[in-house]
Amino acid sequence: MIDLRSDTVTRPTPQMRRAMAEAEVGDDVYGEDPTVNRLQERAARLLGFEAALFVPSGVMGNEIAIRILTRPGQELLADDRSHVVQYELAGMAALSGVMPRTLTSPDGLLTPEAIRRALPPKAYYRSEVALVVLENTHNLAGGTVYTVEQTRAAIAAAREAGLKVHIDGARLWNAAVALRVRSDELAAGADTVMVDLSKGLCAPVGGLLLASRERIEEARRVRKQLGGGMRQAGIIAAAGLVAIETMIERLVEDHANARLLGAALAACPRLRVTPVRTNIVVASLEGRSAAAVVAALAERGVLASAMDAVTLRLVTHRDVSRSECERAAGALAAVLG
Ligand SMILES: Cc1ncc(COP(=O)(O)O)c(C=O)c1O
Repeated sequence: MIDLRSDTVTRPTPQMRRAMAEAEVGDDVYGEDPTVNRLQERAARLLGFEAALFVPSGVMGNEIAIRILTRPGQELLADDRSHVVQYELAGMAALSGVMPRTLTSPDGLLTPEAIRRALPPKAYYRSEVALVVLENTHNLAGGTVYTVEQTRAAIAAAREAGLKVHIDGARLWNAAVALRVRSDELAAGADTVMVDLSKGLCAPVGGLLLASRERIEEARRVRKQLGGGMRQAGIIAAAGLVAIETMIERLVEDHANARLLGAALAACPRLRVTPVRTNIVVASLEGRSAAAVVAALAERGVLASAMDAVTLRLVTHRDVSRSECERAAGALAAVLG
């Protein structure tokens, strides 16, 4: 099977498995795991923050960020198709007492104007918005990218209104590679950033939350409360170190493969493909069921995702080669052409 459902299906590389087997470990709840500490220091330096916290999942990283940047009864501003709104099981409400105030845009990106327009006048009897969440790259919108300038502008608009900013950067390195910029440039100015190691970078587990030293200390307490205090976590952090040291630049290959799939879809009638920027290809099917298309593709050896009744998603990653993507393009033409 050619598995294009998600980049989360990637398996750890042989180098990661060796690093895991040989990892020096200690009890990370005591702060004594040298491999976890090394990963956190490396990630903080790479992304331009004072400190980082290794978290078991991107969801936990996002939810910890929301908790430490808000108070119960406040709201956060996010795109209506963002991960924190669609896929975190109302965690912001359950864990932080926060409601989303959502915005709609074709590319999932929040502009300064949209942020300003969405904010209620400041009055004691109106809802208080505390936080803006930017998702880079944006998953459901089709791997769309905030440039450095767009990120700066959105953060400036949030700051003008006295809001904090979290970046859900589960695929921030895909954005950096696509734009040919450093990841710290895409993270600059945010209060917190979450990056994932277990997607295109192929680590088996985990992500990182980045922030000031003081906020990371608070985040560590929340992680423990959520049951995310891990003991000899260096075993998995070792794979994370290999991920950030060796797996970022190769994401260009995934992006080239995604463009190939995007072109195959663009040649099919009665559908609309979102311009391909990174490793996610999203197509809106007109008058056809996405579930039926997914089933027909599976019969031809290609796994894809139906994101809703009419939306098909394909995600490229290290475990599908160029020639497999060429075969997948053939299957798309046969099913949708
Ligand atoms: C944009 C975005 N944020 C957060 C997550 C959550 O990451 P994890 O699966 O590591 O919890 C995902 C996962 O697909 C995602 O696409």
